[in-house]
Amino acid sequence: MRMRGVQFLAGILCAAVFLAAGQTPVTPPAESHTDCGGNFTGSSGELLSPQWPQDYDNNASCVYHIAAQPRYFLTLSVNAFSTADAEDVLTIYNGMSAGPPDTIIGSYSGHMLGAGDVINSTGNQLYLTFTSDAVNGTGGFNITYRAQPVPAVACPDPGSPDYGSRVGGDFRPGSTVQFSCDDGYTLYGNASLTCTDGSWDARLPTCKAECGGNITNATSGVILSPGYPDRYTANLSCTWSLSAPEGTLLQLMFNNFSLEDGKDFLYANDENRPDDQPETTLTGSTVPANWLSWTNNVVLQLVTGADAGMGGFSLAYESIPKTFCRDPGPILHGVSTSAEVLYSAGQSVSYSCDAGYQLLGNTTLTCLQGRQRIWDAAPPVCYAPCGGNLTSAYGTIVSPTHDPDNAVSRDCYWQVHVDDSSSVIIMFNSFQLRESDAYLTIFDGGDIAAAPLANFSSTAASADVYSTDSQVLFLFHHGATDSYGNFSLTYFAQKKHCPDPGTVNNSQRSGDDFSVRSSVNYTCDKGYDLEGQGTIVCKPGNPPTWDYPKPRCVLVKECDDPGTPENGQRDSDDFSVGASVSYSCPQGYQLTGETTLTCRRSPGSRPKWDYQRPVCEEVPIQLCHDPAFLHYGTYTPRTHHYFVGSVVTFSCDSGYMLKGNTTLVCIMGDSRLAKPRWSNAYPTCEKAQVKTSSASSGGNAALGVSLFVVLALLGVGGVVAYKWRHKILELLQKTKTNNTPPSFDNPMYEVPANNPDDGPSVEQSAEA
Ligand SMILES: *[C@@H]1O[C@H](CO)[C@@H](O)[C@H](O)[C@H]1NC(C)=O
Ligand SMILES: *[C@@H]1O[C@H](CO)[C@@H](O)[C@H](O)[C@H]1NC(C)=O
Ligand SMILES: *[C@@H]1O[C@H](CO)[C@@H](O)[C@H](O)[C@H]1NC(C)=O
Ligand SMILES: *[C@@H]1O[C@H](CO)[C@@H](O)[C@H](O)[C@H]1NC(C)=O
Ligand SMILES: *[C@@H]1O[C@H](CO)[C@@H](O)[C@H](O)[C@H]1NC(C)=O
Ligand SMILES: *[C@@H]1O[C@H](CO)[C@@H](O)[C@H](O)[C@H]1NC(C)=O
Ligand SMILES: *[C@@H]1O[C@H](CO)[C@@H](O)[C@H](O)[C@H]1NC(C)=O
Ligand SMILES: *[C@@H]1O[C@H](CO)[C@@H](O)[C@H](O)[C@H]1NC(C)=O
Ligand SMILES: *[C@@H]1O[C@H](CO)[C@@H](O)[C@H](O)[C@H]1NC(C)=O
Ligand SMILES: *[C@@H]1O[C@H](CO)[C@@H](O)[C@H](O)[C@H]1NC(C)=O
Ligand SMILES: *[C@@H]1O[C@H](CO)[C@@H](O)[C@H](O)[C@H]1NC(C)=O
Ligand SMILES: *[C@@H]1O[C@H](CO)[C@@H](O)[C@H](O)[C@H]1NC(C)=O
Repeated sequence: MRMRGVQFLAGILCAAVFLAAGQTPVTPPAESHTDCGGNFTGSSGELLSPQWPQDYDNNASCVYHIAAQPRYFLTLSVNAFSTADAEDVLTIYNGMSAGPPDTIIGSYSGHMLGAGDVINSTGNQLYLTFTSDAVNGTGGFNITYRAQPVPAVACPDPGSPDYGSRVGGDFRPGSTVQFSCDDGYTLYGNASLTCTDGSWDARLPTCKAECGGNITNATSGVILSPGYPDRYTANLSCTWSLSAPEGTLLQLMFNNFSLEDGKDFLYANDENRPDDQPETTLTGSTVPANWLSWTNNVVLQLVTGADAGMGGFSLAYESIPKTFCRDPGPILHGVSTSAEVLYSAGQSVSYSCDAGYQLLGNTTLTCLQGRQRIWDAAPPVCYAPCGGNLTSAYGTIVSPTHDPDNAVSRDCYWQVHVDDSSSVIIMFNSFQLRESDAYLTIFDGGDIAAAPLANFSSTAASADVYSTDSQVLFLFHHGATDSYGNFSLTYFAQKKHCPDPGTVNNSQRSGDDFSVRSSVNYTCDKGYDLEGQGTIVCKPGNPPTWDYPKPRCVLVKECDDPGTPENGQRDSDDFSVGASVSYSCPQGYQLTGETTLTCRRSPGSRPKWDYQRPVCEEVPIQLCHDPAFLHYGTYTPRTHHYFVGSVVTFSCDSGYMLKGNTTLVCIMGDSRLAKPRWSNAYPTCEKAQVKTSSASSGGNAALGVSLFVVLALLGVGGVVAYKWRHKILELLQKTKTNNTPPSFDNPMYEVPANNPDDGPSVEQSAEA
């Protein structure tokens, strides 16, 4: 250990001076200092190993303690560091002593630290130890410390109290936020909080609804049951005194109201109210209508019983100048349009009476101009008259209002006359007659001569009553008392109905309304005939009835009469299904159309004739010519009018033979316009001869020969089709037996078509 007394002393002095001034002791450079460790409180300084800048001592044990102001931390900046070996160690602690291991920032030896390294404290103090062993050390350290302020930390969002609010959103250190409670709540705690070092200086305040309070200058605000909106508690007696400015009244407007009915009460009172105005007592769970005081001083009192509380109340109060009309209030047996507590000049309230009552007085009241506002009239009165005439389809009749000044025995008559096609249903809303002399009789008609329908007295079970008539008379009688009780009934007109007429087989019904004067129509299905009235109408009457029995629909079994054509005749009058009728026309007329019609039925429809009726058309008088003059013969009859159908017979003189038809018939022309003609050519009378047929038979023979030649030419090898062969043979046969030329149109035979597949035609064959 090398000691330099002067330097040491100087160092102490220096340190003392600078410490007193809060400054770092400044060691003159290049000169080593002998002390080790030290207490440092300045804002900055140097931590030096013993003998720095020369090698530190053996067996050194130095303690450095650095203490900065609160809310500061320390930064160590290494200027130089080296020790000889691991036994020469600088250990750095957070805090003011060598604390437990978790306070150690680090132990450094050798070259574990170098120039430029920075170590920060967590708090405002550091504690360093430097020890060296017996072995000669080399090196040392030069570390600068600096005290630095801890950066400012903002406070968390403080939130807002329930039923309150906050003003201010700056949560930085030093900022202040304010709190206030909603109307009706009182603030408990600090109304303003300040942020210091990351936390608020006080707890968040709370807002509570209190039990009672004195409110002076009560212009507007809120009053809540204690603890609102939580339930209030048992056995409370809370009083709120409200003083509104002179010349004003207080209006209470309830937002919520729930008190145990009949056990917990809110009393609203003003001391100088008129004598006839009772104290207002509120209970239950119906939100009360607005309440208006008579003076400017109001006392509210909540008194709760022993049971657990309910939801309580929330009301707003407001002082209002006395320049208005006060709600005239409800009337008995009537309703008003009143919805406000206050009415200003010119505003109106209208009244109407309940069903069965009549309004006496003014229907509408208007608030008059003036300093003390008043209504232009008193509210009207609703009273029930003793009797009346009612013609509407429904109505209400109530027991007549008592006349307190004139309690006499009365008979009251109500005549109800509804539409003649309706009857009346009477239903009781209430019926309670206390007096034995009081009764209500109902008649089924317009006067007391009608049959009584019902008679009620006392609290008789008041069943519904049905009239049959469209008129009903009510007679109510009571004795000379005003306490006979009361009743209320409602009547309705009900359309009278015919009974359901039902359906008719094989028909469609239209109309489901069976009320008087309505009609129901029946339409028979196809194939059925209506018997009776297709439309029936419900006739007014007592009871109403249908004007006709419902009809029937009967199956149609015959066709309609087909009629007879003009000039024609029909053979039968049987038109039933399956029967036929035939028509004929006289001479000179011609039947056009079908002669015979048959009546047929197809399902689901009426029977019908299968054809239309024919007509007899006049034939124009058209005659055949007189037969031509006949040589050597004659004909009968000889008339000049040969109508269609006329027959003439020809005969020849003796020695002559008739050739052709003996009889000719006058027949219709080939078309409708052609004249009639004779059926055949006129015959001739020829002199009788012995050999009459040789020439013609010779001709036939010649034809036969030529056909044979054709056959011979074609038939070699039997190539000719059998059909042709057969036909040719047939022709040959005919030429032998008959003089008439052969016809290829004879339908008996099939004529070969001119078709190459079938072979050559006869003509081609003949040419070939
Ligand atoms: C310690 O190091 C600093 C920075 O290099 C220097 O300015 C100061 O003079 C040194 N102190 C001594 C006593 O050598
Ligand atoms: C530092 O302060 C402590 C206690 O305050 C004391 O015991 C110690 O001797 C002081 N060290 C120096 C070098 O003054
Ligand atoms: C020490 O503090 C300084 C500010 O003074 C900062 O710049 C540096 O990053 C910190 N170092 C560590 C290791 O925390
Ligand atoms: C260091 O201490 C050891 C034993 O503790 C001793 O032998 C040695 O002489 C001391 N060295 C110095 C320089 O004081
Ligand atoms: C230790 O230092 C002393 C004085 O400087 C010196 O005499 C001695 O030889 C040194 N020992 C070693 C081992 O270097
Ligand atoms: C908070 O309020 C309490 C009592 O109301 C008072 O004692 C305290 O000083 C207040 N604190 C602050 C920070 O205002
Ligand atoms: C209200 O005032 C009256 C008298 O002035 C007093 O007796 C009462 O305690 C007060 N109530 C409250 C809640 O402050
Ligand atoms: C009463 O309250 C009103 C409104 O809050 C205010 O304008 C008035 O000055 C107050 N009067 C008194 C006497 O406090
Ligand atoms: C109110 O009614 C009374 C009697 O019915 C009538 O004399 C008076 O004029 C009415 N007043 C108004 C304002 O209609
Ligand atoms: C009802 O009308 C009848 C005539 O139909 C009449 O005699 C009677 O006075 C009227 N009753 C009332 C109350 O109007
Ligand atoms: C019944 O027929 C008549 C006459 O065709 C018609 O006026 C009436 O509306 C019909 N009624 C119904 C219910 O169809
Ligand atoms: C008369 O004519 C008819 C048909 O025109 C014929 O069928 C009939 O054979 C002929 N009679 C005689 C005798 O020629």
